[in-house]
Amino acid sequence: MDTPFLTQNDRYSALTDAVAALLSGERDWIANLANTAALLFAELDDINWAGFYLLKDGELVLGPFQGKPACVRIAIGKGVCGTAAQRRQSIVVADVHQFPGHIACDSASNSELVVPLIRGDELLGVLDLDSPKFARFNDEDARGLERIAGVLLSSSRQ
Ligand code: SME
Repeated sequence: MDTPFLTQNDRYSALTDAVAALLSGERDWIANLANTAALLFAELDDINWAGFYLLKDGELVLGPFQGKPACVRIAIGKGVCGTAAQRRQSIVVADVHQFPGHIACDSASNSELVVPLIRGDELLGVLDLDSPKFARFNDEDARGLERIAGVLLSSSRQ
């Protein structure tokens, strides 16, 4: 989505609308996770992995994604995903090689953004985006993807 003259916020508004349109009329959680991962992977620039880890029996388990095969289980508190899940806060990592305990799934990944999926006070999982570019993500990406996560949660039945 490299449209000239649009701000990053404008692009996230358009992407949020696209996710809402894609998910409208369907409430199946796995189907909506799969289509959201596919749309983000197709529309965001410089991304080599986009997908979800879902909280099951106290750990994160790989869910629908686009990209190379990834590690299946991540303990809460481990890696970027497990840390975002534990803190219940989005984490932007400019250089994954500097993040203590980063879990390398694709050696091409250099930066990462993880957004927790929270309904009420229940943690359902995380959205994870990886990029081969260093510092691909900033706080505006985090806010934009939090809005998209909100649409995904309100459009789906877990
Ligand atoms: N890098 C993540 C693991 C998941 S993969 O990037 C798909 C982490 O440190 O939690």
